[in-house]
Amino acid sequence: MTHSQDDLKRQLAKYAMKFVKEHAIIGVGTGSTVNYFIEELAKYKSDIETTVSSSKATTALLKKYGIPVSDLNHVPSLPIYVDGADEALKYGQLIKGRGGALLQEKILVASAEKFICLIDESKFVQRLGGVPVPVEVIPSARSLVGRELAALGGDPIYREHFITDGGNIILDVERLNLANPVEMEEKINHIPGVVCAGIFAKNLADVLIVASQEGIREYP
Ligand code: A5P
Repeated sequence: MTHSQDDLKRQLAKYAMKFVKEHAIIGVGTGSTVNYFIEELAKYKSDIETTVSSSKATTALLKKYGIPVSDLNHVPSLPIYVDGADEALKYGQLIKGRGGALLQEKILVASAEKFICLIDESKFVQRLGGVPVPVEVIPSARSLVGRELAALGGDPIYREHFITDGGNIILDVERLNLANPVEMEEKINHIPGVVCAGIFAKNLADVLIVASQEGIREYP
């Protein structure tokens, strides 16, 4: 039997619970994979003290299931964060932000003691860059940042009709050379007006869980 992409996401969500069950405070990412994870979380909500959410969309879904949500500043620590990605290397470097929640996601990744990343096999790559890199930008800096991204070899495309939870815009950057993702992440983050680059290479996934037709595999 062939599993659909949604089946694989559902399997990932169930699998992720083995990392989560021992923790009372859980960071929750954004996206369709995480939406299945939230369904699983709802089954164990009596064991959860609270969650910290990475987006308005995730907060709304958590609340719909009656799962408590707290501000990051109001929890003593964040032992675990669970999220998807748009592309991943087996070492845990990622491209994220297709859903536009990259800033809060990056803050939660940096805050968490352990980041569990859930992907289906279509996102598992040998080299990053097959998908555009989302870059969150202060609206007034759009032209400046676009020029600087072009100077780095990228082809920035303005994401139309989209404003982030923080009130900023997104440039989706194609054709960047991501042979050294840490270096490119730093270069983009240093452009004035950039809020956040969707390259997660400095703070990467601690555990990458990949679902394929053959089953589920953990890296490392
Ligand atoms: C949200 O901003 C993204 O970083 C998501 O984590 C990423 O796009 C994965 O989403 P899906 O689970 O919907 O593929």
